[in-house]
Amino acid sequence: MTIKAPTATTEDDITAETLRRFEGTPNARLREIMLSLTRHLHGFIKDVQLTEEEWFEAIKFLTATGQLCDANRQEFILLSDTLGVSMVVDLISHRKPAGATESTVFGPFHREGAAEMPMGSNIAPHDTKGIPAIVFGHVLDAEGKPIAGAKLDVWQANSDGFYDSQLPNAEQLHMRGIFRTGADGRYVVKTTRPVHYQIPSDGPVGRMLKATNLHSWRPAHVHFAISANGYEPVTTHVFDSIDPYLKSDAVFGVKDSLIVDFQEHAMRDSAATEFAIDPPFVTAEFDFVLKRSA
Ligand code: BEZ
Ligand code: FE
Repeated sequence: MTIKAPTATTEDDITAETLRRFEGTPNARLREIMLSLTRHLHGFIKDVQLTEEEWFEAIKFLTATGQLCDANRQEFILLSDTLGVSMVVDLISHRKPAGATESTVFGPFHREGAAEMPMGSNIAPHDTKGIPAIVFGHVLDAEGKPIAGAKLDVWQANSDGFYDSQLPNAEQLHMRGIFRTGADGRYVVKTTRPVHYQIPSDGPVGRMLKATNLHSWRPAHVHFAISANGYEPVTTHVFDSIDPYLKSDAVFGVKDSLIVDFQEHAMRDSAATEFAIDPPFVTAEFDFVLKRSA
């Protein structure tokens, strides 16, 4: 008489059999990921005793998330951001030594093709409602020495809280620019004072936020992606210190070291002369410190 191996029949049998199958994954890192994913995913489903109806809802939700993605909309990044996953991955991936500029979420609104601009250029010529702002400082190494030839890729929402890709003439790039430092490492970007804005909420992520009683606001910020030969690149934001959403950013992106005061200039003063700008305007000074590549 032949004795057959028992077929997996209980939930735990299925988990054990799934783990057994992934054990044979040739790539060691992929094996580690698949085994851990199986343990956590099965554990989560058993923990909440997920019903078939709920699982179909989840599949519909993920399908809608994918269907909303195109060149101008990235609902999966929004989902990762609002679940806190992007910032956990950021913190694991970019451990910085003390003093180096911290990174934060990349977000879904970066675009390729922004114009290279002379230092001091205005990235917001059409944002006529905004308060004129100068964001300036230096790109430095850990010893405080200026980094020449650093590239700063800058992008920002307009003073109505929208990125160019969200506007009717979405193909037109606006409030974006690429700047390169000279020998002094100094950068100057003319823009408008950033405002807090809501992340896109008309899709599945918005429905999730509503159902869980969460708001969709991000505190006012300017995005910077900075790179230089011989240094680790950093993708980060500069946040306005007076913003009411600093403690409740919908995507968990705020780090204290990235918060800066925007100084108000109501009268003609030395900053007005230095930056060739008429009052009223605001200035924010922030130095970026890059870590040497390993
Ligand atoms: C942003 O700052 O552009 C952003 C980041 C995460 C989600 C939505 C927007
Ligand atoms: Fe943003």
